[in-house]
Parts: sequence; C-alpha cells; structure tokens
Amino acid sequence: MIMEEQLKGLQRALGEVKSIEKPKIISVASGKGGVGKTNVAINLGIIFSKMGKKVLVLDGDLGLGNVNVVLGIIPKYNLYHVMKGGVSLKDAIVKVGDLGMDIVAAGSGFTQLAELDDVERRKFLEEIKSLSDYDIIIIDTSAGIGRNVISFVLASHETIIITTPEPTAITDAYGIIKAISAESLKLSSNVKLIVNRVKNPSEGIKIADRISTVAGQFLGVKIESIGFIPEDPSVEFAVKRQQPFVISFPNSQVTLHLKHIAQRLENMKVKDEDKGLTRFFKVFFGG
Ligand SMILES: Nc1ncnc2c1ncn2[C@@H]1O[C@H](COP(=O)(O)OP(=O)(O)OP(=O)(O)O)[C@@H](O)[C@H]1O
Ligand SMILES: [Mg+2]
Repeated sequence: MIMEEQLKGLQRALGEVKSIEKPKIISVASGKGGVGKTNVAINLGIIFSKMGKKVLVLDGDLGLGNVNVVLGIIPKYNLYHVMKGGVSLKDAIVKVGDLGMDIVAAGSGFTQLAELDDVERRKFLEEIKSLSDYDIIIIDTSAGIGRNVISFVLASHETIIITTPEPTAITDAYGIIKAISAESLKLSSNVKLIVNRVKNPSEGIKIADRISTVAGQFLGVKIESIGFIPEDPSVEFAVKRQQPFVISFPNSQVTLHLKHIAQRLENMKVKDEDKGLTRFFKVFFGG
C-alpha cells in the first residue's frame, strides 16, 4: 500500500518532471544468462552516442554487474555506494571519454531494490532527477525474472529481450515475457526481441517468429522482433581485450547488425504520458 506521504512525494516529483521529454529508457533483459545483454547494452550505447545522443549505460545487474569489466574500467563508486553509502549518483557516473558515453557500475552484495527503506527510496528519487540530461539511458539487467528486473523493465519505454537459438534460452525468453505480461496489465510495456548468435538470417527469423507467435497466442502480447545478431568471434575477442566490439571491429557483421537495430529503436516513438522520467517514477514510487 502506498502511504499518503509517499503519494504526495510522487505527485510532487511527477509535477516536476512532466515537461521533460528526455530521457528514453531502454532496458535489456533475458531469461537465460550469458546470452549477450551486457555486450548489446554497451555497444548499443556507443552507437547511440556516435549518433549524437547523450547516453548513460546503467548497470542494473546489481548482484553481478560487469559493464565496467567489459569496458576495462575500475570505477571508484557504484550503485551500491549510491544506495547505501551516501554517494551521489552524479559521483558514481564514469565518463568513458573516448567512447563519448557515461556509465554507472553496479555493486556486489546488493540484492533487491525492494529492500530499500522509505528514506533510501526517496533518496534514490532525488538522485534519479539528475539523469534527465541524458537522451538515452540503457539499463543492463540481470538474467531471469527477479523483482529488480521486472521493475526496470516496467519502468522502461522499450525493453529488449535477448535470446540465442538454444532451446533453453528460447524457453527462458518466453518465461520472462510471461512474467512481464503478467505485471504489465498495470502498465503496458513495449517488448522487443533480438535473437543473438544466429548462424544465418533464416535461423533468426524462424526463432523470432516462433516466440512472437507463442506469446501472441498464449499470452496475448505483441512481441516485435527488431533484428538478429550473427554469431561472430569478434565479440569474444573484444571482451577479452576489454574493448567494445563496435570500437575494435567497426566493420564486423555484429557491428553492422547492431547499427540497424539502433536505427529501428531510434525511430520508435514514446507515448506522451510516459515521456522522460515519468514512467520511471510511476513504477518505482507509485506503489
Ligand atoms: N554474437 C555473438 N557472437 C559470439 N559470441 C557472443 C555473441 N554474443 C555474446 N557472445 C559471447 O557470450 C559472452 C557473454 O556475453 P554477455 O556478457 O554480453 O552476456 P550477458 O547476457 O550479459 O551475461 P550475464 O547474464 O552473465 O550478465 C560474451 O563474452 C561472448 O563471448
Ligand atoms: Mg551481463
């Protein structure tokens, strides 16, 4: 139940952010782990920033975050320090100068946002306001259907579910779509699908079709495919070098496919009532 005091705070916050058009919040999620979320989140962020957008990649994998590891960065502060240690979100933002985007790393030993008490929640709300400078915030979530993930997904304007062609990844992708659709009766979510590590285009198309057909038939939700990404050794090379593949391998197939995906996301419009940080506030602080 939402307390009267909280409701007033929420209304004040909504009043303050109503006119803000920015940012567009995109979460990247998956049922199964290790399917490519972090690589998609980071590389998509770089592509958007090269398109002239001001981008923040927020590591929402609060227990096992590794956005900074893939980038070879050791940040001084992370979200754990923000939530529990009196550090401001601005101080936890790391400017990845040569990539032209910012990141906030996740902490370890930090389980559920739901465990935050009222004071911490309010503090986070204050901190989040400082993010309205960004055009795009990409949230890299943890695998599975934990409470954090569902909250991030519902708070986002677009959610990208990633799967690979493996049957276990497909089943788990369906599982997270089911979990989201059960929750989003309250708040409709735009769920998009990327099939990663495909051997050829027809494999990608077939899997995307199968998932969206089943989701449509059994859950009544529309899952739109926004493209596939081929299996490509460049990804692993880049991870080992701790440099994003769009930088190390700008002409690779993975980079080209992700650029098409970025373009499609860029063309998608956000509903007026959900613009900027409004949706985020509704989900996290609306009860
Ligand atoms: N398109 C691809 N081609 C080849 N290998 C890939 C591709 N995408 C991802 N990988 C491999 O999968 C590994 C895991 O990717 P990544 O860390 O982005 O997944 P994740 O979904 O974020 O994992 P976790 O659930 O653990 O957070 C990469 O280090 C890379 O070796
Ligand atoms: Mg990851």
